[in-house]
Amino acid sequence: MNDIMPDKPFRVRLEDSSDWINVAADESLLNALRDAGHDVMSGCESGSCGTCKTTLIEGEADHRDYVLMDSERSSYIMPCVSRAAGEEIVIRLGS
Ligand code: FES
Repeated sequence: MNDIMPDKPFRVRLEDSSDWINVAADESLLNALRDAGHDVMSGCESGSCGTCKTTLIEGEADHRDYVLMDSERSSYIMPCVSRAAGEEIVIRLGS
């Protein structure tokens, strides 16, 4: 049996905006932000370089990176690989 669950869609909002951005099940948070016109710096896009580090304001993240320390995981998210654990998160671009 395959225990890997398919990714789910969620939505994200920047803390200084009232607009929600939808993130489809098959796209990254990074790409959804860029498609919505936000300039997000990236490097590896595989969760290992730290370039895309973004501040997590509200909601819980499904962390899939290799760079955040445990103590940072409630405050930051790496949008190239990580997703919302629930239905929505609120972020601030940059760290
Ligand atoms: S771009 Fe390298 S961790 Fe996100």
